[in-house]
Amino acid sequence: MATRHFLSLMDLSADEYRKLFARAAALKARYGSKKRDRSLEGRVLGMIFEKASTRTRISFESGVAQLGGDAIFLSPRDTQLGRGEPIADSARVVSRMVDAIIIRANDHGMVEEFARYSKVPVINALTDLNHPCQLLADVFTYEQHRGSIQGRRVAWVGDGFNMCHSYINAAQVFGFELAIATPPGYEPDEQLVAQADDRVWLCKSPADAVAGADLVVTDVWASMGQEEERLKRLRDFADFTVDNALMQKAADDALFMHCLPAHRGEEVAAEVIDGPQSVVWDEAQARMFTQQALVEFLMLGYFPGQQD
Ligand code: CP
Ligand code: NVA
Repeated sequence: MATRHFLSLMDLSADEYRKLFARAAALKARYGSKKRDRSLEGRVLGMIFEKASTRTRISFESGVAQLGGDAIFLSPRDTQLGRGEPIADSARVVSRMVDAIIIRANDHGMVEEFARYSKVPVINALTDLNHPCQLLADVFTYEQHRGSIQGRRVAWVGDGFNMCHSYINAAQVFGFELAIATPPGYEPDEQLVAQADDRVWLCKSPADAVAGADLVVTDVWASMGQEEERLKRLRDFADFTVDNALMQKAADDALFMHCLPAHRGEEVAAEVIDGPQSVVWDEAQARMFTQQALVEFLMLGYFPGQQD
């Protein structure tokens, strides 16, 4: 059977997501009761990071350790990849010694190439194209607070970059409506929007996107690798702060999410991210439970407790 990878949200089926979220809920409950499973005993996760990370690194490392497995963290300084060893050769070698590999890369093509030559599952831990692991946490967190996200309305306010792209994929996979507001020139990939055009539309203003929304989401204005554009982006995104006045246009029980790290006073006002509609801390912790379920599924081929 071909090796399964998780490079975008399109790589798992609706049934697999249903099982993944059920397993993540069980893992969350067990974490709360201080019980631990040993489902990953003797298994090793390789972790290749070309960029900084707090949440992704810790959620995978801690998540695997809690299930009895080990993780090896590799930055470009630590491997021959950083000194120009071909991606294909690195993939062939690393994948003979670990049970799955997560990669955070500058270029999505690097992760695709690594996966082509890997004997074990490769998980996308953020690229310039998308961030599918974050969407597992976001959808799980929405459903823990409000029930099924299917048919709900989500507003994306901000840069049409990697996180926005994964929201577009998620609208298709999980069946919600997605209204997107970006400044001119920062729209998401046209092809991705076209593929999801029955669910996704671009709006003229943040107010239009947020009107009646059940969930409001944003992300930093300058992503990793875009630091030199920061001043220009501060000007271009000046009208795109998610503040209380904007949140008031959403549904009364709307939630606010942000993948973090956040810049208070830029893409989100402190009154929102630190306010009662914000679920960003649950969202961050959900990275761990959902990725534990994902790693179990890709390493073991099933969700423990749901083998039938
Ligand atoms: N949301 C997220 O991926 O955070 P990190 O960059 O800290 O991993
Ligand atoms: N868009 C952000 C997400 C960080 C988790 C970035 O790529 O830096």
